[in-house]
Amino acid sequence: MTSSEAKARDRLIVALDVESVEAARALISKLGDSVSFYKIGLELAYAGGLGLAGELKQVGKRVFLDLKLHDIGATVERATLQISRLGVDFLTIHGFTQTMRAARAGAGDGGLRLLAVTVMTSYDDADLREAGYALGVAELAALRARQARELGVDGLILSPLELAPIRALVGSKMLLVTPGVRPAGAEANDQKRVMTPGQAIQAGADHLVIGRPITRAADPRAAAERIVAEIAGAA
Ligand code: C5P
Repeated sequence: MTSSEAKARDRLIVALDVESVEAARALISKLGDSVSFYKIGLELAYAGGLGLAGELKQVGKRVFLDLKLHDIGATVERATLQISRLGVDFLTIHGFTQTMRAARAGAGDGGLRLLAVTVMTSYDDADLREAGYALGVAELAALRARQARELGVDGLILSPLELAPIRALVGSKMLLVTPGVRPAGAEANDQKRVMTPGQAIQAGADHLVIGRPITRAADPRAAAERIVAEIAGAA
């Protein structure tokens, strides 16, 4: 594998959205060396998947724990410290200043990169109003993106459509990670605002989180390889 192929492969993060560690292991073994970076979310984490994080690290994979931490500062700081000891690469937190500051303190300066969720992409302006917020989604996402950068958070989770404006706002140093990516011709499933892998890379994404187009493909390995090739072509 050339280093540019390895770089493109590292930009693809496959979401292990399955119900058991056994199902995740089966998928990981099918994907083999076509995938170098995995995301473990709440479903798999609560099904014993945190142990899988360590196993993946031992075989040289990178691991993104999508746990979306949010609690009082002291708890977030201590939880982040524990997670940093697992040796994983990325961790999500909610983009509230108290939470981001606490996670930054807990993460120390090892290899753990913190990614803030600015506003959940399932929320619209009406949801925010209902929750008592004065700002709409775009304004609140921009405010939190700036706060995340000021607090030393390493990156942001964004929908593909937010990539270009937020990249312009935060500059080149923050990691931008986007779900909602669909290869041309693939089913959107429940994703509403999608881009192809090539478009998302060109819009400024560092990493793409892709689940069903790979995990539910007849040949997951071939699907992953096609996406890596598209990323390499767009980079
Ligand atoms: O299967 P699919 O490619 O839609 O999976 C995308 C992954 O990204 C899922 O794990 C989903 O939970 C996650 N995600 C998302 N939209 C967000 C945040 C996370 O699709 N706004």
